[in-house]
Parts: sequence; structure tokens; C-alpha cells
Amino acid sequence: MTPTVLLARCFAGAVVAAFAAGAPAGNPQPAAGSGNAPASPPSLASTGNPELTVSVGGRMSTFAPAALLAMPAATTVTIANDVAYKRNMTFRAIPLALLLGGVGPDETLRFVASDGFVATLPAALLLARGDGAVAYLAIEPPDAPWPPLKAGDPSTAGPFYLVWVRPERGGISPEQWPYQVVKIESVPPLARRFPMVAPAPSLSARDPIRHGFAVYEKNCSVCHTINLGGEASIGPDLNVPYNPTEYLRVDALRRLIRDPQTLRRWPSAKMPAFPPDALSDRDLTDLLAYLHHMADRKVQVPIAK
Ligand code: HEC
Repeated sequence: MTPTVLLARCFAGAVVAAFAAGAPAGNPQPAAGSGNAPASPPSLASTGNPELTVSVGGRMSTFAPAALLAMPAATTVTIANDVAYKRNMTFRAIPLALLLGGVGPDETLRFVASDGFVATLPAALLLARGDGAVAYLAIEPPDAPWPPLKAGDPSTAGPFYLVWVRPERGGISPEQWPYQVVKIESVPPLARRFPMVAPAPSLSARDPIRHGFAVYEKNCSVCHTINLGGEASIGPDLNVPYNPTEYLRVDALRRLIRDPQTLRRWPSAKMPAFPPDALSDRDLTDLLAYLHHMADRKVQVPIAK
């Protein structure tokens, strides 16, 4: 099991509550850098001939719903308080990992919806099996369509919908339930898409700061940006205008990461705890070395000191 999956024992509820208040469920985030208004979306969901394109591991495949529903691994999943439908739902689904052969846990996958919205998720989360959070691809049966999402609009969450069993064990937020999915594709690593998040190129491959960056990418980039680089928008940027190593003592910062509520406590806090089984002491030390290092690599921001 990966650290990311272990991380958030008790925050999912808080995030669900926070998101339920404002954001449209499910697909709130357009792709970073792709613009907000998807130009004339290919509304595949309504053509009656939907397919899922999976472009991972250097291969591209397409799947019709009927073919996926006929897989021996197809099963029924029951979702309590489903994110898209906001009530208990039952879906026919397959474990998503079955479609992700050849994908490594360090990769990042992008889920593209028929309206152009995009959710970017770490593969480590999506590949996890066992008794933590497990990702399933719910498949809308062509002969038994799902209910519409809203009254007055026939669109459903289909043709494909990423749902989670035991989401609370993986700290899965409502943004991580993309619906109307038509494509799953692997995307280059964070530092290639956002060069400003990378540590200095002059560091040796074995420098602990590089390992700290890997720890950041896996555990923190889901919610934070650093140096304004990344796709997440749940927590604050960790370098600008100030890097936490500039205003928190090392012991306080370690404590904040281990269990934020032991440093600052309030009911709607959303950052999960990272206990030692999720983040070893060495990981934490290297992570702080990376954060500290980034304080000297700030992008320019128009803010008064
Ligand atoms: C699930 C989302 C999430 C993850 C994962 C996460 N954080 Fe946070 N973090 C937040 C949010 C949201 C806040 C703002 C306070 C709050 O609501 O808890 C925050 C606050 C912080 C702060 C305090 C900033 C300040 O000045 O108050 C630091 C430092 C921080 N996070 C570092 C990290 C690091 C390092 C990691 C990775 C080990 C991480 N976070 C992982 C969501 C997250």
C-alpha cells in the first residue's frame, strides 16, 4: 500500500462537506492551462455510441461499454452518498487497475470528460487494491441508462464514471470522482509539466532534496502547488509568497505535517495527517530539505514584503 493511500484517515468527510457547499459535484476543475471553456464539447455521452479511450503505457485502446460489462471482473459496487448523484447508488463496474496495465505508481493519469473537464490523479491511488480506497470504473449499461444528474437535463454520469470504494481510507476528495469520462491518458511527470516545481538541476541524482521532491510529488501535490506550479487548488501554495520554512520552526513544521491539528486546530481544517506509517522520518526530513531548498528558487510574485 502506498503512503498516499494511507494518508487521510479522517479528512474525507471534511473535504466532502467543504466541497458540497460550493462546487458543482464531480467535475469542478477544468484542466490547468487548457482554458476554462472547452470549445464545442464532443458530447459523446449523447451519441448513443460511447467509447472509452485509454492511452497509457505507450498504447492506445478503446472500449465499448458492452465489452467492459462483459469482462469477468465486472461487478456491482454500492456507493453510499455518491458524489455525482448525492445519494446512495449501485453501479456495474470493473476495478480500474485492470485497464492500467503497464502504468507505474509514479505516473499521473488524466481523466477527460465529454464536456472537456479534466481530473488529474496520481496512478498510485488508482492502482491500489486491497482494503484501502479502491478505484472502480462504473459503466453505464447501454440498455439500462443511469438516471439524469439534474432535472430537466437528460445527461447522466455516463458513459463512464470513476467511483471509489472506501474513499475515506485514501483521502479521496469529490474532485477525484470524474464523471462522463470518455478518455483516460497518462501525462508526463509534474516537473516536466511545471518546471518551476523542480529542485536545482545541479543537484546530484542521489541528493536527499531530490528524494524530498519525490515525496512532495506523491503526497502533497494532490492538494498544494509549490512555486505556483501544479494543478491542485485545495491547499495554499507552499513557496509563494512565503515558504512554510520561512515562518515555521522546523519542529512546528514537522508537527504540522505529522498531524496538522496538533499545531492549529479548527473544525473545517482539511489537511490530513501523515503518520510515520504513511511518511517515514527520513521522508519527512528530505521533504523539509526540499521545501527549504525551494525557498531560494522562488518565482517572482507581485507581493509586498
Ligand atoms: C488532501 C489535501 C492536502 C494534502 C494531501 C496536503 N495538504 Fe497541506 N494543507 C491542505 C489544506 C487544505 C491546508 C490549509 C489548512 C487546512 O485546511 O487544513 C493545508 C495547509 C498546509 C500547510 C500550512 C500552511 C500555512 O501557512 O497555514 C503546510 C505547511 C502544508 N499544508 C504542507 C503540506 C505538505 C508538506 C504536504 C505533503 C506531505 C501536504 N501539505 C499535504 C491540504 C492538504
